[in-house]
Amino acid sequence: MIPPRIILLAGADGFLGRTCIDHFQERGWQVRVFSRRERPDFPPGVEVHRWDGRTAGPWVAALEGVEAVVNLSGRSVNCRYHARNRRKIRESRVASTSVLGAAIAAARQPPRTWINASSATIYRHAEDRAMDEANGEIGTGFSVEVCRAWEAAQKAAATPRTRKVRLRTSMVLGWGGNSVYQVVRRLARWGLGGQSGPGSQFVSWIHVADFCRAVEFLIGSELEGAVNVTAPYPVTNDYLMRTLRRMLGRSIGLPAPRWLLEIGAVVLRTETELVLKSRRVIPARLLQAGFDFRHPTLPESVAALEVERPPG
Ligand SMILES: NC(=O)c1ccc[n+]([C@@H]2O[C@H](COP(=O)([O-])OP(=O)(O)OC[C@H]3O[C@@H](n4cnc5c(N)ncnc54)[C@H](OP(=O)(O)O)[C@@H]3O)[C@@H](O)[C@H]2O)c1
Repeated sequence: MIPPRIILLAGADGFLGRTCIDHFQERGWQVRVFSRRERPDFPPGVEVHRWDGRTAGPWVAALEGVEAVVNLSGRSVNCRYHARNRRKIRESRVASTSVLGAAIAAARQPPRTWINASSATIYRHAEDRAMDEANGEIGTGFSVEVCRAWEAAQKAAATPRTRKVRLRTSMVLGWGGNSVYQVVRRLARWGLGGQSGPGSQFVSWIHVADFCRAVEFLIGSELEGAVNVTAPYPVTNDYLMRTLRRMLGRSIGLPAPRWLLEIGAVVLRTETELVLKSRRVIPARLLQAGFDFRHPTLPESVAALEVERPPG
């Protein structure tokens, strides 16, 4: 009998981790996870190894013989960016990446592939043209600095037997946790689904099923380095909100001018950058490598998400 392929997911308790667990289990993979939780309620069959995301421990042994490691660890960015949160956002990503890199470097039988999360927000605010991996310009500011440090931590790891991929993921649309899709959908349903700020800012997005499929595709490919994980057709914020209103049958959608967003962000303990930064990013390397998006366009993706809506 052929032994099952083993994937190890770090930071698996979040929105993407949970969805990846289901995706890979359904396809017959054996799933191991690294989690900081005491009593995690992962699905049956998942092998859980406790770690703190910072220091080596008995968990390192679980890396032996796995085909791929996918590190999704990081404190949520949906918070106010004051000094303490900035430190946690940065450290949780850099420390988990560094400790994982050291463990992979020391493994007797290291994974063939190490995929580490990063973000499409690493590119500059762009309305003028699309950013791909070759011609994209790296931006400035706190979120960009986090991505640079995060990516640098993976690059610095000396893992000659392991192929390294940096996932520059855009906004992932799906159900679970308090995902972005659920938040914008709720706004649209309440009649608050007008444009945010100017509305001309671009939103790069990907359906969560394509996110998981892209991870699986990358494991089977020879690609290394930065890969934009985003649907091929970014849209403007205005188009996104119009599409949601149309799909949800809401004719009215009050717009949210910048000043209102600033107040709302303080009340909701979040940052306006998450909606106002223009992320116009395209997946050139995935397309060149032959990745076939199941949900390439936004209206079709929203229609699919509505069909997939969990009960309750
Ligand atoms: N969702 C998106 O649209 C999106 C887009 C671009 C990039 N990303 C990146 O992809 C990764 C996964 O996204 P997600 O939406 O699944 O995030 P999430 O729901 O916030 O989950 C992240 C996971 O990281 C672990 N974690 C949290 N705080 C940590 C800390 N202080 N130290 C170490 N680990 C910590 C937790 O897992 P345990 O409790 O099991 O340890 C948590 O469940 C994140 O790094 C995120 O920045 C996400």
